Amino acid sequence: MADAVGSPQTGIPWWHGAVGYEIYIRSFADSDGDGIGDLVGARARLAHLAWLGVDAVWVTPFFPSPGFDHGYDVSDYRDVDPRHGTLSDFDAFSATAHDLGLKVVVDIVPNHTSHLHRWFAEARKSRDSAFRDYYLWHDPAPTGGPPNNWVSHFGGPAWTLDEASGQYYCHLFLPQQPDLNWRNEDVRAEFDEILRFWLDRGVDGFRIDVAHGLLKDPLFRDNPRIRVADSAADNWGVFFSFEHCYDLDQDDTVDIYRRWHRLVEPYGAALIGEVALDDPVRMARYIGGGALDSAFFLQPPWMGWEPAALLDAIRGMHDREPNRVSWAIDNHDHSRSVTRFGGGARGARRSLAVTTLISCLGGIPFLYQGQELGIGDGTIAPDDLADPIATRNEGALGRDGARTPMPWEPGPGNGFTAGTPWLRADDRPHAETVAGQMSIPDAPIHQYRALLGTRRAHPELGAGPAAWLDTGSAEMAVIRRGSMLVVANLSADYATITTGSPPISPVFSSAKDPMPTAAGSVRVPPETTVVFATPHRADTQEGPAHLVDTETRV
Ligand code: BGC
Repeated sequence: MADAVGSPQTGIPWWHGAVGYEIYIRSFADSDGDGIGDLVGARARLAHLAWLGVDAVWVTPFFPSPGFDHGYDVSDYRDVDPRHGTLSDFDAFSATAHDLGLKVVVDIVPNHTSHLHRWFAEARKSRDSAFRDYYLWHDPAPTGGPPNNWVSHFGGPAWTLDEASGQYYCHLFLPQQPDLNWRNEDVRAEFDEILRFWLDRGVDGFRIDVAHGLLKDPLFRDNPRIRVADSAADNWGVFFSFEHCYDLDQDDTVDIYRRWHRLVEPYGAALIGEVALDDPVRMARYIGGGALDSAFFLQPPWMGWEPAALLDAIRGMHDREPNRVSWAIDNHDHSRSVTRFGGGARGARRSLAVTTLISCLGGIPFLYQGQELGIGDGTIAPDDLADPIATRNEGALGRDGARTPMPWEPGPGNGFTAGTPWLRADDRPHAETVAGQMSIPDAPIHQYRALLGTRRAHPELGAGPAAWLDTGSAEMAVIRRGSMLVVANLSADYATITTGSPPISPVFSSAKDPMPTAAGSVRVPPETTVVFATPHRADTQEGPAHLVDTETRV
């Protein structure tokens, strides 16, 4: 473990200065040829993560699940789905990760269970079931329909009628994912035990799915409608046509994480929430103060190539919470940034420029599997789409493009499986595979490795004060961190940085273009982030001059 990363000896939490890597377990590595990724396969690939220079691996849910949402519908929180392996496979995975110096972060799904979970099976047996109150039930509205206007993230109402008992149950996602009632102390106690189960197996942290959704308005009031969606078939259009003030982000949700924090603290484990809120002020409520250690800021993964808006969003969140955000531009829920940013070499260039910027911030930058290859979305025939968003909503592509198999090697199956992948997609060409890029010196995989090496070699990039200098351009950010200077020029033009004397030297550039230097200045190429080491320190007023001139388009 590098010095930049905390350790029990120093009393600094392990995630301090760390870089994370997300494994989407179904699509990472399949050891037994059934076409579904598993823990044995993932374990055999952990050396790649260590080589790349990451510090922690987040594994998406591998628990028993009927798979309506590909693992995010859990039917037993204390076991491993046979398609992904066994508990001993998990222990072996975890032991190998630890031997390689990698922390293990497990994805816990507390907002909802599978409809096949024993609790729900019991709950729906009768209104008097001891488990009835584990879930959110409501009588129909006086008109006979759902009790309120809440909608599912995946399209349609957030309520389904249970014919047998005549009541509706709430589900913010699929009808096969009934929401738990977190106002019930028994549910809280169950999850205390679930967390302990994994902590006792040695996990180093939890990624908490839908962490902002656990509590709902006790009165189940209607969400205010802010616009009318263009099409009822557009799940996100409908979802974002409401202000989610009653189904998400209730003020007291954070109390649950204070309880969890007390539970995980003796184990030194981290709580990293998926808090999908755009408002930095609401986001920050969950972080620190004895609640979550960190939370994902998920505005960037929704965004296309909008340099000014991207920088504005990142800076807004960073200003509010400089040292505890989990930063990502890619994950299993969104089209890959290379595709969103324009595709091909251009998209890859932009993606690395933004990844470089977020890798120079406090908190935990996360890579998503395959991001280190600079690849865009996989190509899938429309009939092969498997994501419920795509299969439920006419015309929607869903999230499958980012979930195609990890391309390890050239050839059929791309080294992911010897069988037929669960998600059929075109095989990736040689230059988009791990093995293929290894022998190409300036391939993305080496750039990403160099980037993580830069963060590790210069701990100031991940900690300490960060001053955003005035650039005069909304498409540029210049951040001074101790003796480091980070210049993110996301504009389409060269930018001249006046450095003064003595000169500053680049330690990493996200693009290979030449960087002309003249006495006292350096020209940073378009759509490029450069990290400089300077002879100056932040605690002195001196420092590299911060004059930035954007030039005419080249
Ligand atoms: C996960 C998704 C999942 C949803 C419901 C999330 O935000 O990242 O993949 O579909 O929660 O569990």
